[in-house]
Amino acid sequence: MFSVFKKKPVTQAPEGLIDVRALIAASTLPSHLRLAEAYFQNMSLASGEFRKPFMGAEAVQLVPLLGVMLSHLRFHSGVRILDFGCGTGWLSQSLALMGAEVVAVDPSATALRLAEANTLSRYPELKGRIRYCEFDGEHLDVEDGQIDRVVCMDSFHHVPNPDVILREFGRVLANDGRAVFSEPGENHSRSAESQHAMRTFGVIENDIVLADIWPLAQRAGFKELKVAPYAVPPLLSLQEFDDLRSRARAKATMNKLFTDVYSSLPTGGRQFVLMKDEPARDSRFRDGLAAHLTAKTFSDGPLLKIDLVARNTGTTTWRPSGQTAGSVNVGLITRGPGGDWDYEFRRYRSIPAQVHPGEVTTVTLTIAKSEFEGRELYADLVAEQVIWFGQNGAAPIRVF
Ligand SMILES: C[S@@+](CC[C@H](N)C(=O)[O-])C[C@H]1O[C@@H](n2cnc3c(N)ncnc32)[C@H](O)[C@@H]1O
Repeated sequence: MFSVFKKKPVTQAPEGLIDVRALIAASTLPSHLRLAEAYFQNMSLASGEFRKPFMGAEAVQLVPLLGVMLSHLRFHSGVRILDFGCGTGWLSQSLALMGAEVVAVDPSATALRLAEANTLSRYPELKGRIRYCEFDGEHLDVEDGQIDRVVCMDSFHHVPNPDVILREFGRVLANDGRAVFSEPGENHSRSAESQHAMRTFGVIENDIVLADIWPLAQRAGFKELKVAPYAVPPLLSLQEFDDLRSRARAKATMNKLFTDVYSSLPTGGRQFVLMKDEPARDSRFRDGLAAHLTAKTFSDGPLLKIDLVARNTGTTTWRPSGQTAGSVNVGLITRGPGGDWDYEFRRYRSIPAQVHPGEVTTVTLTIAKSEFEGRELYADLVAEQVIWFGQNGAAPIRVF
C-alpha cells in the first residue's frame, strides 16, 4: 500500500542532474547564508514580491496554499507566531493584521529591512507588532516555549540542516504549539526550475520527504504529523455532489476524489502540520463556547445589585477575566426604546479563575440606576476579541 511515511530507497540523481544532497554536503553554513542574502541584495520595494500573495498569476496557486495553512494554524487573536524564512515579510504582515504577535525570521538582513519598511509604509499601526530577527542558520533568538505557532511558507526546503531547525522549532514552541508547513514535494530537487536555481545560484532546493522529516520531528519533541492531502478539491458535477449524501451512491464520487488526490501525490507540494501536545481547548476559540445565565436583581435606593450565575454549558474552558484575547468578561448591555443596542455599555472583569465545562461562577455587580435610565438592561458574557456568547447561541438575558 502507498504510504507517505514509507521510506523510499535513496537513489542518485540521474546523469547531468545536480544532486541536492551533494550540494548540501559541499556547502558550508556561512556560504549558504550569504546566498540567501545575495538573493535580496538588489531587490527594492517596487518588486512584485511585496504584492504577495497577489503577485500576478502566481496567486492562483499561492492563495489556496495560504488558505490551507491558515485553516490548520488554530489561529486566535494574540497568538505568538514565528514566520520562519519570512523573505519580504508578506505573511508576517498578514498575520499581524489578523491580530497575531509575530517574530519574522530570515538569514537575509536586507530582506528583513525591506520587509519592515514595506509593512510600516503600508500599515504604520503595526509598529511594534512584528519583531524582525536575523537568523544565524542554527539558533532562533527566542526563549524556550515562547512561541505558539511556527509557519514555514516555502522556506524549510532551503535549509541545509533540517534536524537542527526542527529541534529549534521544538524548543521555542509552547507545549501545545504547532508548526505548519507549506513546502514543495518529494521530487522538488529534480524539477527544471529547481535544477536551474541550484545550477545558477547554488541555493538548496531540497526534496520534502515526510518519511525523513517525521523521525527528526519526533526527536525534536513533536508527537504528531498530519498532512493535508490537497489544497484545491476538484469540482464535481451536481450529480456527483448530490450522490455524496447517500452512502450507497457516494462510492463513485469518493473514488474520483481519491484518484485525484492519489495522482497528485508524487508531484504535488506538501502541506503538513507538526504538533506537540494536544492543543488547549479554551475561550480563545469560539467553538464549544456556551453559557446558561440566570440573574437576580435587588434594588438598593439609587443602586441596582445584580447576582449573576453563569454555568459553563459548553465544551471548552473559559479563561479568567482580563484584557487578552479569549478572556471571559461579563458585559452589561442596554437597549433603547427605539430598539438600539449598546454592547459597549459596561464590562466587568469579574471571573477570577478558569471555569471548566459544567462549572458555575457567580458574579455580583452593582450599578447606579441613573446610568441606564430609560433603557432596558441585559447581561451576557464575552470572550474578548473572539465573540459574544450571545452570538454563539443563547441571547443575552434581560436583568432590568
Ligand atoms: C522562497 S523564499 C520564501 C519567502 C517567504 N516565506 C515567502 O513566502 O515569500 C525562501 C526564504 O527562505 C529563506 N532562507 C533561506 N535559507 C534559510 C535558512 N537556512 N533558514 C531560514 N530561512 C532561510 C530565504 O532567505 C528566503 O527568504
